[in-house]
Amino acid sequence: MSETDTRTTEETETARRPGRRRGREDGKFGRYGGQYVPEALMPAIEELTDAYERYVLDNEDGFVDEFRERLAEFGGRPTPLQRADRLSERYETEVYLKREDLLHGGAHKLNNALGQVLLAKYMGKERIIAETGAGQHGTATAMAAAHLDMPCTIYMGERDINRQRPNVFRMKLNGSEVKPVTTGRGTLKEAISETMRDWAETVEDTHYVIGSIVGPHPFPVMVRDFQAVISEEAREQAIEKTGGVPTDVVACAGGGSNTMGTFAEFVDDESVALHAVEAGGSTLEVDEEAGVAPNSASLFAGDEGVLHGARTKLLQDSDGQIMESHSVSSGLDYAGVGPELAYLVDEGRVDPVAVDDDAALEGFHRLSSTEGIIPALETAHAFGFLEKHHEKLGERVVVNVSGRGDKDLDAAIEETDKRDVDGAPDMSMFTGGM
Ligand SMILES: Cc1ncc(COP(=O)(O)O)c(C=O)c1O
Repeated sequence: MSETDTRTTEETETARRPGRRRGREDGKFGRYGGQYVPEALMPAIEELTDAYERYVLDNEDGFVDEFRERLAEFGGRPTPLQRADRLSERYETEVYLKREDLLHGGAHKLNNALGQVLLAKYMGKERIIAETGAGQHGTATAMAAAHLDMPCTIYMGERDINRQRPNVFRMKLNGSEVKPVTTGRGTLKEAISETMRDWAETVEDTHYVIGSIVGPHPFPVMVRDFQAVISEEAREQAIEKTGGVPTDVVACAGGGSNTMGTFAEFVDDESVALHAVEAGGSTLEVDEEAGVAPNSASLFAGDEGVLHGARTKLLQDSDGQIMESHSVSSGLDYAGVGPELAYLVDEGRVDPVAVDDDAALEGFHRLSSTEGIIPALETAHAFGFLEKHHEKLGERVVVNVSGRGDKDLDAAIEETDKRDVDGAPDMSMFTGGM
């Protein structure tokens, strides 16, 4: 164990179990969190809280052991912590990449989806429902449901269906039904609302696999615990490879599941700076009259309010109406954020940073051309942050590569063609100008 790792071996060992040091939480993070749900959903929430405590926290019937085994064999864990040679040279600091893009399905989302679908099985549920934005959570849930032989319905906004067609096809290939949501702007917020409506009517036999650390308790802590495997591995790998914990940990933040998964094991390491990178969209200015925030920076620019069962930081107008958010990446395009992250930002433990569409797109091209890794557009925001803020970082930086960019290639062609992006290839052969 290195000098910078102050925990005992026993503590590091127990860190391998979800929920290991957090105990039974009531779902309150300071002023944030809670269970703001209709009466009809309370029995399901109570049943889920009980199952979370028994199976996930106490490993009843060997749930955690089976989860870990399936994550390894079906998911391909552990994922590597890889030194990024070119970026390390460019920023004159050691840059390490946590390669969640190499997890089965191409993103961190499988950690949570597999955990929840397995939990639904242990609870005796017979049907899975889920919402999806970028389609990565829907894809992961469809995969987990097929793997565990559960029927599955995925709600997805119409606009996101058009932006993420390959992922829609993947869900269908895995045998899931995809239901388009046409209300509002047809993105993640509406898809979550529609899934909650379905759940209220089907709670007896159905489990709702929520896709991030959002929603009523116990979802935020449960999803964090399933995703905490990222930081459990990354912390151990960093100590093994570099002799100590990193100086900085960086992850993009939509709802915040890859963020909290990457931060969880480092929160108690006071020397480690935690950077949550949100989508700054086209601008941080909001159009109150039109009800539009052309960004998704709820940690950076949001105010306290209630959405989807929890009190948290939200993009809202002065009357408390939720604003339409925007991001070049559909997975970050959400007006809220997990309550635990909102709390950690208020406490000064997590540093929220907004990176705009242009800088994210440049990050997408930079990682692709210099390191041979095409990131998801969500992930690309973390690399936009590195470019802009590397001077304030310490000597050992871990960046979570939350997902790979295959799903985003159409969007990347379209968005790159609209702009003059530093380091992008000549686009004429892709856009008809050859
Ligand atoms: C690759 C990737 N990264 C990040 C996110 C954002 O979600 P979260 O903030 O919950 O990690 C998504 C959402 O779909 C995603 O697909």
